Amino acid sequence: MNRDIIKTKKAKYVYKASSIEHGDVTAVDDVTVEFHEGSFTAVLGRNGSGKSTFARLLNALLIPVEGVVFVDNIETGQEDYIWDIRRNVGIIFQNPDNQIVGTTVEEDVAFGPENLGIPPMEIRQRVDAAIETVDMGSFVKNAPHLLSGGQKQRVAIAGILSMKPKCIVTDEATSMLDPIGRKEVIKVLKRLNEEEKITIIHITHHMEEAAIADRVIIFDKGKLVLDGCPKEVFSRVKIIKQLGLEVPQVTELFYDINMEGFDLPLSVIDIDEAYKAIVKRLK
Ligand SMILES: Nc1ncnc2c1ncn2[C@@H]1O[C@H](COP(=O)(O)OP(=O)(O)O)[C@@H](O)[C@H]1O
Ligand SMILES: [Mg+2]
Repeated sequence: MNRDIIKTKKAKYVYKASSIEHGDVTAVDDVTVEFHEGSFTAVLGRNGSGKSTFARLLNALLIPVEGVVFVDNIETGQEDYIWDIRRNVGIIFQNPDNQIVGTTVEEDVAFGPENLGIPPMEIRQRVDAAIETVDMGSFVKNAPHLLSGGQKQRVAIAGILSMKPKCIVTDEATSMLDPIGRKEVIKVLKRLNEEEKITIIHITHHMEEAAIADRVIIFDKGKLVLDGCPKEVFSRVKIIKQLGLEVPQVTELFYDINMEGFDLPLSVIDIDEAYKAIVKRLK
């Protein structure tokens, strides 16, 4: 059950300098990590910490210069398998407009399976199912570019789903969305994870989104520096701030109250838990 769907061993990626003044950049540095099938991991790290490069290493858009990345036990450097890898690990990027390929929602979602040479009948079934899963059933004939940001990202997710992926990586896919759009996308990702057991690797700046993951990993200067369940990771408030990141608002509040000399647990990451901890303290 706890099979690793993705594994990296000492993976390293270096961008070559464009000129002498700008040295080479080691964007991902000696990263060894595994993702269990069916898990939901949030990936955090300040700008430039290597998150997007890491994401691209996971579906062979980039190949490590040292070390290895395995997707479903296939090494990403093996060119013969590159399309299997990309089909298994789909990436949703930040800007929804850059991901639109069709003139209607259904055409857009069909693009992937058409390229895979899937028979038309099966494409039809896959497209309908994928659109239903992301709650876009009433928009099949709509023009994707006229949708809201959250809807566009859901169409992009459906496009990946139609290729029956094992894993979806989102690279700040919620960062250009309004709070409603963000919620819609998170709801869909959660559902895909819980009901379809799709592994989710969610790169985000929103700590509240990280708090709902099973696991949080944090990058700094290309290295993986923290790894644990959200409670463990966010209770290390001081370290997280040193890494240029925030903690969830309630954790921050509890931290500040602790600084005033009142004892409240720092492992609290949501409002319900905060409520219980305060009531317990006041009793
Ligand atoms: N195409 C590129 N060419 C050169 N350097 C790059 C390129 N893309 C990213 N980098 C550098 O690699 C490092 C990691 O970048 P990135 O993976 O985009 O981090 P993040 O997604 O966490 O912001 C940064 O120092 C960035 O400037
Ligand atoms: Mg990035």
